[in-house]
Amino acid sequence: MVSFNGWVNMVKATRKPDLAVNIGRMELRNPVIAASGTFGFGKEYEDFLDLNSLGAIVTKGISLNPMMGNPPPRIFETEGGILNSIGLQNPGFDDFVKNKLPYLRKIKTPLIVNFFGNTQKGYADLAKRFDALPGISGLEMNISCPNVEEGGIAFCMDPKMTYEVVRAVRKLTRLTLIVKLSPNVTDIAQMARSAEEAGADAVSLINTFRAMAVNIYSGKPELGNIIGGLSGPAIKPIALRMVWEVSQRVKIPVIGMGGITKAEDAIEFILVGATAVQIGTANLVNPRTAIEVIDGIKKYLIQKKIARLRNLTGLFQKPYRP
Ligand SMILES: Cc1cc2nc3c(=O)[nH]c(=O)nc-3n(C[C@H](O)[C@H](O)[C@H](O)COP(=O)(O)O)c2cc1C
Repeated sequence: MVSFNGWVNMVKATRKPDLAVNIGRMELRNPVIAASGTFGFGKEYEDFLDLNSLGAIVTKGISLNPMMGNPPPRIFETEGGILNSIGLQNPGFDDFVKNKLPYLRKIKTPLIVNFFGNTQKGYADLAKRFDALPGISGLEMNISCPNVEEGGIAFCMDPKMTYEVVRAVRKLTRLTLIVKLSPNVTDIAQMARSAEEAGADAVSLINTFRAMAVNIYSGKPELGNIIGGLSGPAIKPIALRMVWEVSQRVKIPVIGMGGITKAEDAIEFILVGATAVQIGTANLVNPRTAIEVIDGIKKYLIQKKIARLRNLTGLFQKPYRP
């Protein structure tokens, strides 16, 4: 491989850097993806930005049957982040196909469906159903869900359970398969390895951290469910460390997320090994965040005379002199 400096000298300075990246069978025009649960089903954002300019869109997590979610309050703002206990509320597979997918199909941006189940078979059956539908480019498996057949331990907590559920899904779909990892484990890289060995095309990380807050005046928890997930800028340094650790242990592409609000954050993730990034909580604060991140990455590449974004991935600790 050509060193960064050598490579830069070889390419002509460009005003139009190539931002395209590959994840499995998908080619994204840029590496910026809207994260699950923070971008609805795309339509909610159509008045704020051109959905066709995103790298990809990930839907809210879909289960076979509709889910009501947790009791309110379900969102609580913390310093530098938010706690959410939405509880995976979603309209279910049939309603998604009938009422959400037709709109998403009209958008050129690759569509990634985030989904989950509560048994291995539940995941596999749902993946098979999505596989049969036109207009879906990829599946993102949220494995941070309890396995009701194993006493409710989340699939993501155990390398063997992770391997088996990913393997079962892999057998039933040819769509690009992304496994979304939880940070609530001792060794996230071990889980990434299990997903890779089971045939995942990519891993995405991180999901939210289990967390809580208490109102000292009412004596009550701030979330109806007591425990929720922490996301936003507060988690970024930990997410970055995890993306770096995972990137060193797997060969498949890593999609990084956790607290990204600006281009500089995204570039940090890319430098430590992420092929692409997802924007979550920041969409709720500024719905144009993804567009601003794409523009900022482009400016950075122009300024650094880097012709292709692909060449930036994982340059951390290589002879890179920004
Ligand atoms: C309100 C809300 C809902 C979410 N829903 C889902 C979901 O349905 N499935 C999923 O895999 N992740 C879900 N997430 C997690 C995000 O996709 C993302 O992994 C996490 O928030 C970290 O990124 P961020 O700090 O940029 O938000 C949700 C996050 C938030 C804030």
